[in-house]
Amino acid sequence: MADLHCSIGGVESPNPFWLASAPPTDKYINVKRAFDAGWGGAVWKTLGIDPPVVNATSRYGVHRDMARGIVGINNIELISDRPLEQNLREIEKLRKEYPGRVIIGSLMAPIDERAWKELAAKILNAGVQGLELNHGCPHGMCERGMGSAVGQVPEMVEQTVRWVKEVAGKIPVFAKLTPNITDIVVPAEAALKGGADGVALINTVNSIVSVNLEAMSPTPMVDGKGTHGGYCGTAVKPIALNMVSAIARDPETSALAISAIGGITTWRDAAEFIALGAQGVQVCTAAMLYGFRIVDDMIDGLSRFMEEHQYRHIGDFRGKALRNTVDWNALNLNFDLKAHIHQDKCIECGRCHIACEDAAHQAIRVGAGANGHRTFTVINDECVGCNLCLHVCPVENCIEMKAVPNGLPPLTWPDHPLNPLRKAG
Ligand SMILES: Cc1cc2nc3c(=O)[nH]c(=O)nc-3n(C[C@H](O)[C@H](O)[C@H](O)COP(=O)(O)O)c2cc1C
Ligand code: SF4
Ligand code: SF4
Repeated sequence: MADLHCSIGGVESPNPFWLASAPPTDKYINVKRAFDAGWGGAVWKTLGIDPPVVNATSRYGVHRDMARGIVGINNIELISDRPLEQNLREIEKLRKEYPGRVIIGSLMAPIDERAWKELAAKILNAGVQGLELNHGCPHGMCERGMGSAVGQVPEMVEQTVRWVKEVAGKIPVFAKLTPNITDIVVPAEAALKGGADGVALINTVNSIVSVNLEAMSPTPMVDGKGTHGGYCGTAVKPIALNMVSAIARDPETSALAISAIGGITTWRDAAEFIALGAQGVQVCTAAMLYGFRIVDDMIDGLSRFMEEHQYRHIGDFRGKALRNTVDWNALNLNFDLKAHIHQDKCIECGRCHIACEDAAHQAIRVGAGANGHRTFTVINDECVGCNLCLHVCPVENCIEMKAVPNGLPPLTWPDHPLNPLRKAG
């Protein structure tokens, strides 16, 4: 049996699955249910200084695919709207009842040394195993100079981390980063300079999820008006994967532990983030949509994957995909792929042909088969191996991309004869 126990930025956890700071972690009963379901840890809903914030109603909008599946949630919720003391007592109680599970305190305060330090000290007194600084909330709180308003200014990230680290001492401190920035490595570097043990990313992406065309207002609507919110769920996973890999690949920030967040719904999502350098993962939207018991499948799936590959510990495959994550300039331009259609699997829908005709290279020929059937075959000389047909084909494994050996040695752009900046020799 694979050992899922791991250390995330110095926080020992029975498994890499934590709930992210959000409604699933905003009170005792939720977190208790989560621990009973098997989650290794929970990052408590972000705490601020009293008086608590006031939330608007409604709070969530969704982005759906054409089959009505939810690909992303947009929320305009603020931080915890319950009194600080009440939250702290509940954390204390859970820490006693579940000593083997992790509770991380998430916090946010105005740019004021005393405010950050006092808040951090109170949360630490409740017995949390780590602190996470919410530098990411992109709506409401940023209008008050907090959340992403801090996360977008590296000096403020560094400063707030330093203040909190002075109070936290050996207790690990994570900076939770906003994706609403050009280069994620910059705030990660700032967090490292401030003394952070790790970073957590991503928080939500700035977004308007839809417009109600009758009310002529963005959704979710609050008494006929809408505002931009924070987008999350499976739709943001690719953004998060890229940002996690950028921090893990950078020689300076690779020293930071990464608690990865963004669209994680299955064990496979989690494994992908770990393969790109994360020490653990956090989940919000999937728990909101499917409930806490999804962690069962996550634990089971990850264990099986590790057993199959003979990974005994998470560390055995952590970061293993980084060596193959390179800049475009390092790609082999002599590598050649062609699409191949398995005729026995083809249902003759024609989607590959349409896609290739209209948006690729007119490389799929439609022919007449026996008994009125149509045949779809690839014209090798025209196919550039772009993958479009493979992606639009509704039948799994019907189109296969096959490498075509051409006998040419690997050739990258810096050495390519057509590169005007190529160095001679
Ligand atoms: C309704 C809602 C409330 C959230 N509140 C917080 C919060 O208080 N503090 C915080 O750091 N992140 C908050 N988040 C962001 C999540 O912790 C997480 O970073 C984000 O949703 C991406 O993960 P996901 O794709 O698994 O949802 C919230 C997200 C949602 C949907
Ligand atoms: S890989 Fe691209 S170019 Fe080749 S057949 Fe498919 S869609 Fe056309
Ligand atoms: S998309 Fe797939 S199933 Fe449809 S015609 Fe092309 S190969 Fe056949």
